[in-house]
This record gives sequence, structure tokens and C-alpha cells, in this order.
Amino acid sequence: MSTVPVNPQVAAHVLRCVHCAKVQETADRMFRCTQCSELLEVVYPEWASAPPGFALRLKEIWRERRGSSLPENASGVWRFRELLPQVDRQNIVTMCEGNTPLVPLKKAARELRLPNLLVKHQGMNPTGSFKDTGISAAITMAKAEGFSWVCCASTGNTSASVAAYAARAEMKSIVLLPAGQVAAGKLAQALEYGAYVLQLRTDFDGCLRVLHEVVRKFSAYLLNSLNPYRLEGQKTVAFELMEQLDWHVPEHVIVPGGNLGNSSALGKGFMELRDLGLIQSLPKISIIQAVGANPLVRTMRENGGTELIRVTPETRATAIRIGNPASWRKAVTVLKNTGGMCEEVSEKEIAQAKSELGAEGIGCEPASAATLAGLKKLAAAGFVKPIDTVVLVLTGHMLKDVDYMKQLPGQNLLGPMEAGGDVVIRTLEQIYARH
Ligand code: F0G
Repeated sequence: MSTVPVNPQVAAHVLRCVHCAKVQETADRMFRCTQCSELLEVVYPEWASAPPGFALRLKEIWRERRGSSLPENASGVWRFRELLPQVDRQNIVTMCEGNTPLVPLKKAARELRLPNLLVKHQGMNPTGSFKDTGISAAITMAKAEGFSWVCCASTGNTSASVAAYAARAEMKSIVLLPAGQVAAGKLAQALEYGAYVLQLRTDFDGCLRVLHEVVRKFSAYLLNSLNPYRLEGQKTVAFELMEQLDWHVPEHVIVPGGNLGNSSALGKGFMELRDLGLIQSLPKISIIQAVGANPLVRTMRENGGTELIRVTPETRATAIRIGNPASWRKAVTVLKNTGGMCEEVSEKEIAQAKSELGAEGIGCEPASAATLAGLKKLAAAGFVKPIDTVVLVLTGHMLKDVDYMKQLPGQNLLGPMEAGGDVVIRTLEQIYARH
């Protein structure tokens, strides 16, 4: 029998400005600091006085819950609820999010001479992207506050997740998308789950700007990652990953960067584990952007992260086609605190990395493949060493963006051809001869 208490304490939280550090109990609809208008983060002041053994007890509690079928335990977010905002269990909106596989790479590991190379496949979430962990947390807060409408601006994945979780919660959803810039699979999801989809003639940054006006006028809860509760859900990937690695901290975790909420959340998760004593060191968290959508890369190179350099974004990795990222300050803090790098990769390098992952049975969307492309550069520069354990965070499912595949050269798609044995056998003989 375990001595673990059945109902361990969940700490109260406050919201703190990431820039001027002003603390506030609640936030307005824009989730901005009332003093300086910068973003807020969730902090738990009581953790500072956590009793000795708190951290070890958490590990036990979380492990025990893995065998439970209660929705709040089966969720890869809410299983870690001691480190999340306090909510009534009847408000939890969950679809078993998280719980994603950690898979070793073989070919890439051989080619890069990195034997300890793994992917954490966040594309295996209920709607096929990491967004589900964040949306589960934030929409739960929306429900607790009595909202019946939710909204977001999106390059596609957030809209799919918002639409699905809103449907589960019996809420209505509004999504603003950049017209013609969203992969078909993602748009289909938002429609399937009943969102009101408004396609705007602008980019993601323009959609987010318009969304600010929408939430001022209509009662709709904002679910973009500037909502700090989104990041609380998304930080749980760090907890789950550490369990999967048996609490051995990897040297590197590499993640793609768009609006920079996910890298911020990942870093927050690791820093909280370290501060609570669950781990003794931090992985270096590196952020990879596309060359054509590289505001953080430029910000770090040109002014060391003090002032955001906005860009006009262009990349076929449409998920990260963002030039004015909301969470840039949080991401800079993660880079600085963990010692990670910010790197950019070309369209060609992304496509190449995606096909290499595909060639070992790991499908993902283009933005996710940027991590492998970035790793190659970091390894070539000697920043990643052969003895290091490296985890690439694959953020989205391959089926999200099948049009991208069709545009790539060198596919093994043959025909249409005559449906005759002769033709097929002749074709296969030629293929066999090449191997
Ligand atoms: N990878 C995928 C597949 C994404 O969908 C996104 C962001 C990112 C990486 C970048 O994450 O923005 O937290 O830095 N997609 C958002 C959306 C913007 O609307 O779906 P980030």
C-alpha cells in the first residue's frame, strides 16, 4: 500500500507580468499586464515553501495515476494537476491529450552520429498537434469562468484544437485564419468541429490584431497562447518527457518557433521541475525558425533579445509563418536560462529533413521537421555533441499538410498506367534493378 495522500494539495496561483513583474490576481480579456501591457505568466507563490519530499511524492502520485481511467488521470495534462491552476473536476475539458510517444530515431542517429536521438511526437494528440494540451487547460478556465464562446487566430492547428475542444465543452468557437495560408487538413478539422471560420486577407499577425478588436466587443474567451493558461497545459510535455526518460535530463530539446508560446511553455515546465527539485539540471532548449519567418533569430543576433525585430513572414511551413511573435520575451528568457540556441533553416533544409524522417516511418508536418534540420546545423557547429541525448519535439501530424508532400520532387508515385500484369511487372523489374 502506498502512503501517498489521495488528494495532494494544489497551490493557488497569481499572474505576473513577464516584463515589469507586477502581480495581479486576475486578467482582463486580453491577458495583458494592467501596468505595462506586456504578457502575463502563471506563478505559484506557495511552491517556495513546499515541504521537503514534496517533489518525490509528486513523482509517485503521477506514476500511480497512469493506471487510472478517470478522465482527469487519463489526461496527459491533468495527471500533473499539482503543478497546474486549481479547477473543479467537473470543469475539466479533456480528450486524453498528451500521452504522446517518445521514439528513438535510427537512420538520422547513425547519419548524424548521435546515438541518443529521440522524437517526442506531439502530433499524436487528439487533433494531431501539441495545441491540445494547451487548449485543454485554457478552455477549462473558460468553462470555469462561465464563457460559452471561445475564439482564436491561427495558422491552422490552434483552430482545429479550439474547434474540437469547444465542441466537447458544448461551446461555440470563432476562428480567424489567414486566407489561402492554412493547410487543408487543418481547415477541414475546424469546419468538421463546427467552428465559425473567418478567412481574412492578411497573415497570422494580422488575424491576431483583428482578434483583439473582436474580444473587446464580443464575449468570447481568447485561446491564443498569449493566454497564460495555454502555456500551463503545454508545459506538461516537459513532465511527461521526464517520466519517459526515467527522470534523466536530456542535454538538448529542440522545438520549432512560430508565435513562441510552445518554446516558452516547454522552458517553463523544465524550470519549474528544476526549482521544485524534481530535476537537478536543465536541458538546453533550442528554437528553430524558417529563414523566411525568423524574427527571433534576428532579434537574438542583432540585439541579444532586447527588442523584437518583426519580419514579413514567408515559408511553406505555414504553421510557423509568423513575423510578430507574441511570446518573444518569454522565449528569450528560455534561451537565456537554458543556454539554448536560436537557429534558422531554409525551405530546402526543411523539406530534406521531413523526407528523412518520413524515410524512417516518422511522419510530421513541415514546421516539425525544422527541428531535425536545425539539429544538423547545431551538431555541425559542435553545439550538440555525440554523447548528448537530444529530443526533437515534433509538433504536428503528417496528415495535416498533405499538399506540401505533393509539391516535393522525388516521390515514388508512378502512373496512372495500364492495369495489366505486363506493365506492372516491367515497372517493378526496373525498380528492383535499382536496389
Ligand atoms: N509547429 C506547429 C505544427 C504549429 O502549428 C505551430 C504553431 C508551431 C510549431 C509553433 O508553435 O507558435 O507556439 O511557437 N501554430 C499556431 C497555430 C500559430 O495557430 O496553430 P508556437
